[in-house]
Amino acid sequence: MSIWCVANQKGGVGKTTTAVALASLVAAEGKRVLAIDLDPHASLSHWLGGAEGPEPRGVADLFADAAPPVSALLRDSGAAGLQVLPAQPALATVERHGVGKQGMGLVLSRALAEVAPHYDLVVLDCPPTLGVLMVSALAAADLLVAPTQTEPLALHGLAGLLRTAQMIERSRGRALPVRIVPTMYDKRTRAAQDTLATLRERYAASVWEEEIPVDTRLREASRDAQAPALAHALSRGVVAYARLLAWLRGAPLPEEKAA
Ligand SMILES: Nc1ncnc2c1ncn2[C@@H]1O[C@H](COP(=O)(O)OP(=O)(O)OP(=O)(O)O)[C@@H](O)[C@H]1O
Ligand SMILES: [Mg+2]
Repeated sequence: MSIWCVANQKGGVGKTTTAVALASLVAAEGKRVLAIDLDPHASLSHWLGGAEGPEPRGVADLFADAAPPVSALLRDSGAAGLQVLPAQPALATVERHGVGKQGMGLVLSRALAEVAPHYDLVVLDCPPTLGVLMVSALAAADLLVAPTQTEPLALHGLAGLLRTAQMIERSRGRALPVRIVPTMYDKRTRAAQDTLATLRERYAASVWEEEIPVDTRLREASRDAQAPALAHALSRGVVAYARLLAWLRGAPLPEEKAA
């Protein structure tokens, strides 16, 4: 079982798309997958749960004083083998009032200890803010997947995220490998090419050697609340995500072996 945290402090870079694509591809292999939505906007919950409206119960309940068991908060997605722990608007309150509150960073690690053994993969979809929810997700993760849009401003948020990941590593005494995923790549634009070159120069082997291309079918899959692996099995975007999945499952990078 692995816990993958999909995060980047920048908004709209493809976090939710990456989380949903990876989760649905693994579930399509017949594996058991749990996707956890940590964003108060609940994009992943809508995508994987259809148009059911706001959830009365979900991740925010885990941060309450008398937290219910995770198993009471789960729901099935449209896809076989894929379950969802949905987000609620109340998550915004957790983010605002949770700062400095004792034990917040460990809420997800503890909650996942209860359910993770039942899954082959747990995927955490983070909000685009470096707050209590993202820290709690990073603390629980075995791997940090950082989608990074191939446009110049995207590089700013990444450095902050990597510093936070190092802080988490130090405080929990366990390595948190990082995999940077170039997203929404349009090879015809100079800005995309330049950003990709800078990304590779700066972060070397932590950056995936391929890119997720711009693919409108991924956008349509999210609009239509369809798991992309099923909706568009052969679209360029889904093929790219399948290749990314193989890389993420691969051996540790050379500099991580000693960790
Ligand atoms: N490879 C892609 N090609 C085309 N459109 C994409 C691609 N990846 C994501 N998108 C679209 O870009 C928008 C932002 O993507 P997504 O919601 O995955 O980003 P996010 O980082 O989770 O955003 P937020 O920070 O708001 O949570 C969505 O409309 C999505 O459908
Ligand atoms: Mg999102």
